[in-house]
Amino acid sequence: MDYERFYSRVGRQVRESAIRRMGAADDDRRDVVSFAPGYPDPTLFPWDDLRDIAGQLLSGQEPSILQYGPPRGLAPLREATVGLLAARGIAVTADELLITTGTQQAVDLLARVLVEPGDVVLTELATFTGSLTAFRNAGAELVGLPVEHDGIDLDALDLAWSCALAGGRPVKLLYLIPNFQNPTGTLLSRDKRARLIAWAEYHDVLIVEDDPYGSLYFDDETAPDTRPLRADCDTGRVIYTSSFSKVLAPGLRVAWVTAPSALIDRLENAKQSADLTCGGLDQHLAYEALRRGVIDRVLPSLRARYRSKRDIMEAAMCREIGERLAWGSPRGGFFIWARLPHGCMDVELLTRAQAEGVTFVVGSAFHVDGSGHDTIRLSFSEPSADRIDEGIRRLSRALTPAAAGS
Ligand SMILES: Cc1ncc(COP(=O)(O)O)c(C=O)c1O
Repeated sequence: MDYERFYSRVGRQVRESAIRRMGAADDDRRDVVSFAPGYPDPTLFPWDDLRDIAGQLLSGQEPSILQYGPPRGLAPLREATVGLLAARGIAVTADELLITTGTQQAVDLLARVLVEPGDVVLTELATFTGSLTAFRNAGAELVGLPVEHDGIDLDALDLAWSCALAGGRPVKLLYLIPNFQNPTGTLLSRDKRARLIAWAEYHDVLIVEDDPYGSLYFDDETAPDTRPLRADCDTGRVIYTSSFSKVLAPGLRVAWVTAPSALIDRLENAKQSADLTCGGLDQHLAYEALRRGVIDRVLPSLRARYRSKRDIMEAAMCREIGERLAWGSPRGGFFIWARLPHGCMDVELLTRAQAEGVTFVVGSAFHVDGSGHDTIRLSFSEPSADRIDEGIRRLSRALTPAAAGS
């Protein structure tokens, strides 16, 4: 049966994410080294703690564990998340918080509740494809702003705002990933954070701050620079979302969004039509992990291991690839963003790289304007040290024809 005539506007335009597509290519060839998905290293999941917690939760003593729960999220988890936010400098009440099925759902709900078809949404150029999809599905007109070494280009921001206004479609919101941005690894400077809040207040634009990587800084001196914008803005202008995916385990699908309670009420209603509530077992696992201090205990080793993986990848890139790629060293997070040699295109390089047995995400997938073909994202978080070395050797071979041709 031909479904084409039944599809809605969204149904017609939904696409598989570029990252998932590249992940699927891995599955087809078992020996492929994958630098594509931003997956945490599964050897760093706190398996023993989670096994203990799950054993107790599933003992049958407490029937509510497997029962439907409140759409806003489990009350103790919301309270504990308020405490976690306080440690990040953000003062909110549990009323101002909604537990979501990943940050992905938080962004999707925000897009549904805030964006009308044709509304202008500003993003970094490049930015996380999952959020682009959510905003696109809501019919947003996406405008990308270049990212400098210290974050979004504020002159370009002003210009984009004026152009949108002149076109009769004022900017509704600005979506930002200030900490170790996905995909560029950039850390937004403190100065720009302050200026962005002032800018948004002055121009009456909402900021959606997506912060999955802020706790994964590689040096203690970097920690103060990860202070969320939301921590310095109490007016409701900044909507903050973060997740347990990168600091506990993404398979739990537990994240949260914080905003004034009137907006949280709307998001909660939208969530009810999506999934009624997050998985109760997942929320209990996340709550117990927080309550028992598991996350605080594992964070230092996560930082050390991801830092070491960054170092291993950069050392291999220097050794094997040298000046054929240019990149800035990330101070946290999961990603190295690399610029290709002159004349080398991301999509063609990917084809050659896959033939060599290595994969990554093409830079253009993260750009709303069709640009970025001279960039690629290499994720160092999941593969082991040996696989990182091997993958970079393969990437170097894939780069050779381009380098020779340039
Ligand atoms: C910037 C950003 N936002 C959101 C997500 C989705 O995270 P979650 O697992 O919480 O849905 C990711 C995952 O890679 C991400 O990098």
